Amino acid sequence: MNTARKLSQDEIELSKETYALFAGLMYQLAGVNLPLNSKNEALIKNRLIRVLRAYQFESYEEYWKYLKNGSDSVKQEFISALTTNMTSFFRENSHFEWLRKYLKAHFEKLYSLRIWCSASSTGQEPYTIAICVYETLTESQRAHVKILASDIDLEVLKKASLGYYTENEITGLTKEQILKFFDRLNQQGEPLYRVKDFLRNMVQFSQFNLMSEKYEFKRPFDIVFCRNVLIYFDEKTVKEVIEKLSQSLNKDGFLLLGHSESGNIKNENLKALSKAIYQRKESHEKN
Ligand SMILES: C[S@@+](CC[C@H](N)C(=O)[O-])C[C@H]1O[C@@H](n2cnc3c(N)ncnc32)[C@H](O)[C@@H]1O
Repeated sequence: MNTARKLSQDEIELSKETYALFAGLMYQLAGVNLPLNSKNEALIKNRLIRVLRAYQFESYEEYWKYLKNGSDSVKQEFISALTTNMTSFFRENSHFEWLRKYLKAHFEKLYSLRIWCSASSTGQEPYTIAICVYETLTESQRAHVKILASDIDLEVLKKASLGYYTENEITGLTKEQILKFFDRLNQQGEPLYRVKDFLRNMVQFSQFNLMSEKYEFKRPFDIVFCRNVLIYFDEKTVKEVIEKLSQSLNKDGFLLLGHSESGNIKNENLKALSKAIYQRKESHEKN
């Protein structure tokens, strides 16, 4: 072990064989597909060098030996290092304009609603959903809305459930929304904002891997958000995940994907409505 100085990414070689081991494990654990090319090679080196440094390993091979027989938390750390968590409030806003209209129409006929945000990253997406619910529905209607937010990455889930954001991380919100839904914590210095308790309490966070064999929930959902994660999966995984998501929806329930992800989604349970919005066709009994 070398404790004398930090090794730079360029000083440690990542062989093709070791690259394949890391990429294979990431595929097996998270479904994330990292075929060998210069972009992915740079990504793996760049992200894992930090883990190497933290443990003071001198080579990727040394880290691999530690990782392959490592505990769940060692594997979790590896997943956290290699997932891409980019997100923002009101990202791909047409979905939230759609959501506001849907919420009004839904509560004209029904009295409860279940929403699942299935790749929630650091929380901006489920809190955006909660803001739409808060701004659109009455207090008594809101009491019957359940928002479940999940992600495979425990680090981002922790950040999401704590609800602290820097100035950069709250872009997408209006001044009024910041005042209404956030406490500004340090009045001097770098601003830090925290989601107010009443909004935080509207979202329940839990770890969930979209690669799970079965999606077991007590009841199906009216809306599932699964945005900007399928792009990291291969075609086979996308097909399987979409099938399981469609089975997690109520009849007439909606699946929302990222704007760039909806190109070749073909699933007999789903019909395409508008940009990256799909609707469940038949009840589960009929399939
Ligand atoms: C780019 S972010 C997208 C966040 C948000 N949905 C959005 O559109 O802004 C992708 C998220 O998918 C998560 N992810 C990757 N593989 C996953 C899996 N197998 N199961 C659940 N979440 C996964 C990552 O941890 C990451 O937080």
